[in-house]
Amino acid sequence: MSKDKLKVLFVAAEVVPFAKTGGLADVSGALPKALKKLGTEIIVVMPRYYKIDKSQLQALPGALGVPMGPIGELWCEVFTSFIPGSDVPIYFIDYEAYFGRSALYDEEGEAYEDNDNRFIFLSKAALQLSKKLSFQPDIVHANDWHTAILPILCQTRFYEDFANTASVLTIHNLQHQGEFFKGAMDVMEVGWEHFNPMEFQKYENVNFLRGGIATTDALTTVSEKYAQEIQTPEFGFGLEEHIRAHRGKLFGILNGVDYHEWNPSCDDHIAAYYDSDDMRGKALCKRDLQEYFGLKVDDNIPLIGFVGRFAEQKGLSMIAEAIRGLLDLDLQIVILGTGEKWAEFFFGEVAAKHRDKLGVHIGYSNTLAHKIEAGSDMFLMPSLFEPCGLNQIYSLRYGTLPIVRATGGLDDTIINYENDNPNSNGFKFYEPSAWALYHTIKWTLEVYHNEKSEFFQMQQRAMALRFDWEKAALSYMKVYQFARDKHNN
Ligand code: ADP
Ligand code: GLC
Repeated sequence: MSKDKLKVLFVAAEVVPFAKTGGLADVSGALPKALKKLGTEIIVVMPRYYKIDKSQLQALPGALGVPMGPIGELWCEVFTSFIPGSDVPIYFIDYEAYFGRSALYDEEGEAYEDNDNRFIFLSKAALQLSKKLSFQPDIVHANDWHTAILPILCQTRFYEDFANTASVLTIHNLQHQGEFFKGAMDVMEVGWEHFNPMEFQKYENVNFLRGGIATTDALTTVSEKYAQEIQTPEFGFGLEEHIRAHRGKLFGILNGVDYHEWNPSCDDHIAAYYDSDDMRGKALCKRDLQEYFGLKVDDNIPLIGFVGRFAEQKGLSMIAEAIRGLLDLDLQIVILGTGEKWAEFFFGEVAAKHRDKLGVHIGYSNTLAHKIEAGSDMFLMPSLFEPCGLNQIYSLRYGTLPIVRATGGLDDTIINYENDNPNSNGFKFYEPSAWALYHTIKWTLEVYHNEKSEFFQMQQRAMALRFDWEKAALSYMKVYQFARDKHNN
């Protein structure tokens, strides 16, 4: 191995295909592969959750001790494997009491009450493991609040071994900040002098993300638009001023897509392969989807898909408010998701009354997500905020035109339909209201029926677009350099 390779320690709470609740996992499974291709030496660390089968992994010899302040030293096991389809090593921190649970962060809508300790543990274990492997990282790359304390750990408790390690923190979602009772400061062992409003303090609480933003060498988020938005009160979730104070080190880098996974010309989850030169397979996928949901099988009824977490962020209350009006139109809607109970109940109920037009699947299904991407004519993402959003980018590749609210990554990736715009690839609305959602969908139906050749051209254009990880990874390399320069000065 060349001595000059940039060494990166990448730590995340979820990584595809091992554990996933959302896009963080897609990014953590794909970005390290792209960074490795660019010549870095990168390792990934995540928890060994209960559902990750140990028998498929290799155990590292010996236990790993993790200092946890007043809790004492906790000993865990570590397992290893590779991110599938790559030679990127991934390490799993196995500590039954913290990660041997059925979910990742919460159950029945209730966050686990020891989430502070669980993720302090993950962050410290990642550094201890790095030492054990004699892996001296040039960069530690943290993701979201779960690992946002990594920079301060390197600068304080772990300084002896990580003094030369520069840090990058990526914000995938500012809404979740990791806020806990201030006693967590003792478990972190970074010194109470860092409990101040410029760093980790939020009144009586410690806020991991706030502290991470202050202490990291470089800060990124997952689209340029979102990098701007989080500096405003509407999107800043109380951190806007804090972020503005650190904007000199903030970069927006749009996520890429893993086109091995999301590609209609070789997707084994869907009924028929297709691509822009021959769209016949898409019609078969549509029929398959209609059959799956027990809808009328008809090529001419426009079919709109939705896949996503049932969370306020995703604009579900707007869909709920508009749904009855929408169901009076000549269309079909399919929804896949799980999360907030009111939404699961509500959409289940409405679907039971409108079986001919609305199909709802409550749950998590990767196969069905692929079928919806392929079989729908349009894909709905009316998010209130969306740091990047991956589904609209997947939809483009499947020729399924996105209908989005113009926010964050949705605004950056979708160009609104206008008759003479040769770049348009979807439909956008601006106001976060059921009214705007309803009228935009009505408009898309008109285009679908009355401007067929424009609709088709947009599909062709959408399918030709590429959001490659290589491009994103090159931008991260620049940020790594920025972080190192900053760290050394
Ligand atoms: P977020 O990370 O905010 O949830 P993204 O659009 O970045 O939003 O990523 C969501 C990812 O999770 C996509 O890969 C999407 O297909 C997947 N996903 C979300 N909900 C489900 C579900 N119920 N079943 C299958 N996949 C899902
Ligand atoms: C978050 C965001 C989503 C983004 C994903 C991956 O969960 O909500 O917009 O695509 O992270 O960065």
